[in-house]
Amino acid sequence: MLTLDRVSKVYRVGTFGTQPLNAVRDVSLTVPPGAVVSLIGESGSGKSTIGRMVLRLTPVTSGAITFDGRNVAGLSGHRARKGYYRHVQGVFQDPFSSFNPIFPVDRVFEMLRGAYFPGVSDAEWRASVRRGIERVGLDPGQVLGRYPHQLSGGQLQRLLIARALTLDIRLLVADEIISMLDASTRIDVLNLLGDLRAEGLGILFVTHDLALGTYVSDTTVILRRGAVAEMGPTRQVYASPRHPYTRGLLASVPRMHRTWAEADADLDTAVGPCPVHSGPAGPGPAGPAGPVEVGPDHFVGCFSDDACPE
Ligand SMILES: Nc1ncnc2c1ncn2[C@@H]1O[C@H](COP(=O)(O)OP(=O)(O)OP(=O)(O)O)[C@@H](O)[C@H]1O
Ligand SMILES: [Mg+2]
Repeated sequence: MLTLDRVSKVYRVGTFGTQPLNAVRDVSLTVPPGAVVSLIGESGSGKSTIGRMVLRLTPVTSGAITFDGRNVAGLSGHRARKGYYRHVQGVFQDPFSSFNPIFPVDRVFEMLRGAYFPGVSDAEWRASVRRGIERVGLDPGQVLGRYPHQLSGGQLQRLLIARALTLDIRLLVADEIISMLDASTRIDVLNLLGDLRAEGLGILFVTHDLALGTYVSDTTVILRRGAVAEMGPTRQVYASPRHPYTRGLLASVPRMHRTWAEADADLDTAVGPCPVHSGPAGPGPAGPAGPVEVGPDHFVGCFSDDACPE
C-alpha cells in the first residue's frame, strides 16, 4: 500500500534558483491494493510532481512517501531500488517518448530483461512477454517486431502497461495516459485499468478530466495549487461536493474548457465558513492546517489559498 504523509515539494526557480515554487503542499493520501485513486487538477496543480515523487524521479522536500510501511526516499542501494521498481511503475502521457523510434518496440521489454531477469531463459522470457501483451488485449504477433511509428498511440500505451505487468507490479502511476488517445481507445485502456484493479493492482490515476475521474476511480482527490481541496469516495465527492472549488468544477462540467477559472472565481464568492478554520480544532500547531474530515473518509481542504483569514 502506498501512503503519502504531508508531502510537499518546493522547486527552486528563477535565475539563481532563489525563488521557491510550492508545487505540492502538505498532501496526504493512500492508494490501497485494488483501488484506483484519481488525482484531478488543472495544469500546474502538482499532479505529475506527485507521481514523479512516488516514482522517485524527484525527491520530496518534506513529508514522507511510504510503500508497505517503508520510506521510499530511504531506499538506498541498487537492490533496494530495484526491489521497489519491481512493484511500482509509471506510465506517462506521451507513449511515443518512451520508445526509441529506431528500434522495434520489443526493445522496451529487452531492457527490462537485462535489468531484472538476467538469468531467465529465452523461452521463459518470450512466454512472459507474450503473456503481458495478451493481458492488455493485444496480439503479440501483431505488435512484436514492429517499430513505434507502425503502431497506434493506444497500442503503444498498452504495450507500456504490458511492460509494467512483466514485473511483479502492485502499484501503477498512470499520468494522463489516455489524454492522447481517441475516444474508443480510451475506453479500452480504461477498461483494462478496471481489470487490473480487479486483480489487486493499486492505481494512482492522474488526470485533468473530471469525467474520466468518475469513470475509473474509487477515491477522488481534487488538487488545487498543489494542495488537496477535497478528497473522498468518488461517489460522495461527485454527489455532494463540500468544497466550493469542487462545486464550481462540477457545476461547469459541460463547459470543460472554462471550468478551472470558473471554479476559482467561485471561491471569491464562496459562502459559509471554511471547515478547516471554523471547526473545533482550528488550525493545527504545525503550519497550515490540513484537510478536515467532513464525512466518512471525506476530507475538505481550506477554502482560501494558503490560510484562511481568521
Ligand atoms: N522540474 C521543475 N522545476 C521547476 N518547476 C517545476 C518543475 N516541474 C514542475 N514544476 C512546476 O511545478 C508546478 C506543478 O507542475 P506539475 O507538472 O506537477 O503540474 P501538473 O498538475 O502535472 O500539470 P499538467 O496538467 O500540465 O501536467 C508547476 O507550476 C510547474 O511549472
Ligand atoms: Mg502533468
